[in-house]
Amino acid sequence: MTTSETIRVGLGERSYDVIVGPGVLARAGELTRPLLKRSRVAIVTDATVAGLHLPALNAALDAAGIAHEAIVLPPGEQTKSFAQLEHVCRALLAARLERGDLVVALGGGVIGDLVGLAAGLVRRGMGFVQIPTTLLAQVDSSVGGKTAINAPEGKNLIGLFHQPRLVLADTAVLGTLPLRELKAGYAEVVKYGLIGDAPFFDWLDSDGAKLLSGDLAALTRAVAASVTAKAGVVERDETETGERALLNLGHTFGHALEAATGFSQRLLHGEGVAIGMKLAFDLSAALGACDGQVPGRVATHLARMGLPHRIADIAGARLSTDELLRHMAQDKKVEAGKLTFILARGIGEAFIAKDVDADAVRAVLNKAE
Ligand code: NAD
Ligand code: GLY
Repeated sequence: MTTSETIRVGLGERSYDVIVGPGVLARAGELTRPLLKRSRVAIVTDATVAGLHLPALNAALDAAGIAHEAIVLPPGEQTKSFAQLEHVCRALLAARLERGDLVVALGGGVIGDLVGLAAGLVRRGMGFVQIPTTLLAQVDSSVGGKTAINAPEGKNLIGLFHQPRLVLADTAVLGTLPLRELKAGYAEVVKYGLIGDAPFFDWLDSDGAKLLSGDLAALTRAVAASVTAKAGVVERDETETGERALLNLGHTFGHALEAATGFSQRLLHGEGVAIGMKLAFDLSAALGACDGQVPGRVATHLARMGLPHRIADIAGARLSTDELLRHMAQDKKVEAGKLTFILARGIGEAFIAKDVDADAVRAVLNKAE
């Protein structure tokens, strides 16, 4: 039987546990109870997750004698909007939640990001618990306190840092996730190996397929390793003044690809990150930072896992280099006209490069398949 693992995110008085493993959802009541001033919470979730996993959460809270009511939102990225933020804030007020009460975010990164922001705003800051139900949310978005909604001007532009009080990552819940979403989340898992942990990459290279077939031991090991890596980075650089930017490996290319495809189902976030990571290694090799064979190793792994790794893997018309560069220039990581990229000296050896020349990026995009 796979047991759960607890990873502590050490941030002084804002420290919290991330509990990873199958069956954690059923223990949500007993695990949340010590954090409560009175026995009631509000749950925010999306309609898809509500249909699949809300009954289990309700039962866990009932068993611990915790009163609860659910706010159910439409699924999808459009939910990270001003309109839904207002809806959630007002629903929390209507439910008469007090400052010391907790809000529980049950869902993927969309729900976690929106609920974290709402909790940070309502009554000048309420506590919240993350119960991430996608692989992406378990390994990335539920940990570290970045919260946001999207603005017409761009993605994730309205937000704040607000750490959760507890994260419960039940790996068994991933069993209902569509394979495409699981694979997209896997991109964020392999990211941790590519950034700073070559032995983890090697393990994924040999055992990664088990994760995608739903093997709970493999999933739990991968989620725990990813959360441990992220927790370390967040502890050292909570508000991204330096090292935390490494977690953006592949994201500058990825965001441009997502923007060029209209943030649609044509390209999921994790799929953009997968292609973006391969391009980041291409750029590293082109700039002489890493050996020319390394991008091929990354591509072979991604292909073996059934992840897109070439721009040509995106369905529909070929995206133009000019359009992608335009989106990168609007990226919030641009400083004084120079592009910031996360590059690598090899697998597990990422670094921040602040002055990458647009011509080198153009050449890589022009050459990319
Ligand atoms: P998501 O929340 O939209 O979930 C993807 C889809 O899966 C949704 O349709 C959802 O209803 C469904 N779903 C969720 N759990 C399920 C389950 N167990 N079974 C079946 N279906 C399920 O998307 P996501 O990929 O989890 O998150 C993407 C969001 O995360 C983006 O908005 C991105 O900006 C954000 N993000 C935030 C951070 C951060 O640090 N805060 C990091 C990475 C990404
Ligand atoms: N997902 C990147 C970060 O949390 O910093």
